[in-house]
Amino acid sequence: MKKTRQFSDSCSSVMFVMFVMSCFLVLFSYTDSLSHVNNALRIQNTFFSEADNDEFEVVRYTWKCESNKCVRYHTNKQEVSLNTCNMMCSQPSLWPKPEKVIVTYKNSTVIDKTRISFNFSTQWQVYNMLINTTDLFKRNLELLKPGNQTTPRATLHIIISIQDSTTDKLKLGTNEKYHLVVENNDNLEAVIVAETYFGARHALETLSQLIWYDDVIDELRILHNVDIIDSPKFPHRGVMIDTARNYFPLDLIKKVVDGMAMSKLNVLHLHVTDAVSFPIVLPRVKQLAAFGAYGRDMIYTPEDIKDLVQYSLTRGIKVLLEVDAPGHVNAGWNFAGESLNKKYVICGESDILNGHLNPDNDEALLVLEDIYNDLLELSGYNEMFHMGSDEVNLTCWKGTQAVKTKKAENSMKQFWASYTNQMLERLKIANDGRYPDHIIMWSSPLTESSELDTLDVKVTIQHWLGNPSSILRRGHKVIYSTVGQWYLDCGFGMWKPSMTSGVCDPYTPWQKFYKHRPWVINGYRELALGGEVCLWTEEVEIDSLETRIWPRSAAFAERVWSDPDTMNDYDVYTRLVSFVDRLRSRGIKSSAMWPRWCSQNPGKC
Ligand SMILES: *[C@@H]1O[C@H](CO)[C@@H](O)[C@H](O)[C@H]1NC(C)=O
Ligand SMILES: *[C@@H]1O[C@H](CO)[C@@H](O)[C@H](O)[C@H]1NC(C)=O
Ligand SMILES: *[C@@H]1O[C@H](CO)[C@@H](O)[C@H](O)[C@H]1NC(C)=O
Ligand SMILES: *[C@@H]1O[C@H](CO)[C@@H](O)[C@H](O)[C@H]1NC(C)=O
Ligand SMILES: *[C@@H]1O[C@H](CO)[C@@H](O)[C@H](O)[C@H]1NC(C)=O
Repeated sequence: MKKTRQFSDSCSSVMFVMFVMSCFLVLFSYTDSLSHVNNALRIQNTFFSEADNDEFEVVRYTWKCESNKCVRYHTNKQEVSLNTCNMMCSQPSLWPKPEKVIVTYKNSTVIDKTRISFNFSTQWQVYNMLINTTDLFKRNLELLKPGNQTTPRATLHIIISIQDSTTDKLKLGTNEKYHLVVENNDNLEAVIVAETYFGARHALETLSQLIWYDDVIDELRILHNVDIIDSPKFPHRGVMIDTARNYFPLDLIKKVVDGMAMSKLNVLHLHVTDAVSFPIVLPRVKQLAAFGAYGRDMIYTPEDIKDLVQYSLTRGIKVLLEVDAPGHVNAGWNFAGESLNKKYVICGESDILNGHLNPDNDEALLVLEDIYNDLLELSGYNEMFHMGSDEVNLTCWKGTQAVKTKKAENSMKQFWASYTNQMLERLKIANDGRYPDHIIMWSSPLTESSELDTLDVKVTIQHWLGNPSSILRRGHKVIYSTVGQWYLDCGFGMWKPSMTSGVCDPYTPWQKFYKHRPWVINGYRELALGGEVCLWTEEVEIDSLETRIWPRSAAFAERVWSDPDTMNDYDVYTRLVSFVDRLRSRGIKSSAMWPRWCSQNPGKC
């Protein structure tokens, strides 16, 4: 209809006759093709359906559990839904896979989402978080099956006991272990025992995954007679998002946090600034965002960050804010004025994407101290601190007065170490006179050199490129973000005409994220704190953020949570695709894993 309307709008009086003719032609061929479709439908309808009305019916399927696989059959009367079969047939569809699941005998009960009772008593420190988490639990069930329940069903009683309910901050050593038992003897009961709030939160997430929508009976079901003991293999399980190359609104970042909470990931690392933009408004140095944000609606206010920090913590996630330095600075730093010795940043003109702090202007370090102070305050967290330190280009500093004075030309690496020590000193002052326990830097040829040992602190390396053996041999802790395995941005080609190839290629499929075990390849398992998947956002904006992240970050999440030795294809594919459906039910977008046919025919693709 739209098409013909546009045509008649454009019919002018001069060419009236010709246009009328063409309009009629278009109308004619349009109705003609429609009548073909209608005829075909009519034939199908009379063939397949006995319904008198014009409603189009598709043939239904039912699933039977045969040799631990759900096999699809055509049927007129559907008996078992795919979700129900998947939960009841082999292992229950949980993601990430818990450490130990015992199902004494598989059975399920229809539950009433409106009648869920919680019983817990905790100290005030975690009480509000737990209240919000139980609300989220109920909201997620609402999303699985919207609308009111007509027939009354079983009430689910959830009993939560937290041994140490004063722990309200997530740290590297925080106990995330939980024990969850679902029974249906006299009552339908889920009993959760955890050391901390964070373990209890994970248990509720697992419990929500034991509940599914059964489309045959249009009800929610829960699996019972289940006993789950679970804890993570690695304490640091993160997603890094670059909010500088492109800006992402807070609500969208919160959706990423929602998906991370479902996957039991626990670190949201924001690479919040870079050379091209400075979106975070820091109370002590507001000028940086004033000069460096892309626009007045492309900023994170201090309130936004505090809001995100609490939102994430309630979901078992800490926020790590990284303002990269001394390289990858430019936007925002020009507030100081243009006279040469006042400049905070040099090389930003020749290399717009990688300016460096000016070692000839000591004030740059004072600005950095202000930045550190604000970051520590806003994140409410100082156990770990990310200094950036990515891609420091020593050529940039050559020829500066500081280098000449120190006669450092022959050993620019030493100059790097001494400048880094000055940065560390600023961090120490900002952190009330002591270094944070874990100071993180990106890996580079500099962190692989022996100068790493001349830093005043034994730093933790976020390893992305090259061979980490020299770092490990020196006993530094590592967070793995191996490029080519755990980078979410690769494979989207060139983004400026002067490039001859993409920054990183090719695209990394979720299976590679799943299989990568750097602690096995490199050894020194005890030095691995865990890993982070990284999303650099030159070629990502709001429309594609979620689909770049999911399902690949979920695949990674099982690697760092359970670190399974092998990959059983049937098990991993069917559980992950159920998880993707669950993401969708909670409003989170994901890339497709495969044609739906494969989900409907488990084990046949
Ligand atoms: C399964 O649970 C239902 C309802 O909760 C119960 O009526 C039924 O007896 C149980 N089946 C077995 C085999 O225990
Ligand atoms: C909550 O649990 C405690 C400890 O198990 C029990 O004593 C109490 O009766 C329960 N309260 C309710 C309302 O079920
Ligand atoms: C609980 O949720 C409310 C509403 O979303 C929020 O304002 C509050 O900060 C949350 N509290 C905690 C402790 O997460
Ligand atoms: C659902 O139930 C609530 C409370 O009983 C009622 O206020 C609401 O109107 C109902 N909604 C629908 C769609 O029936
Ligand atoms: C390092 O910086 C210099 C000076 O700004 C620049 O010419 C060069 O291209 C940079 N090198 C790299 C690898 O970016």
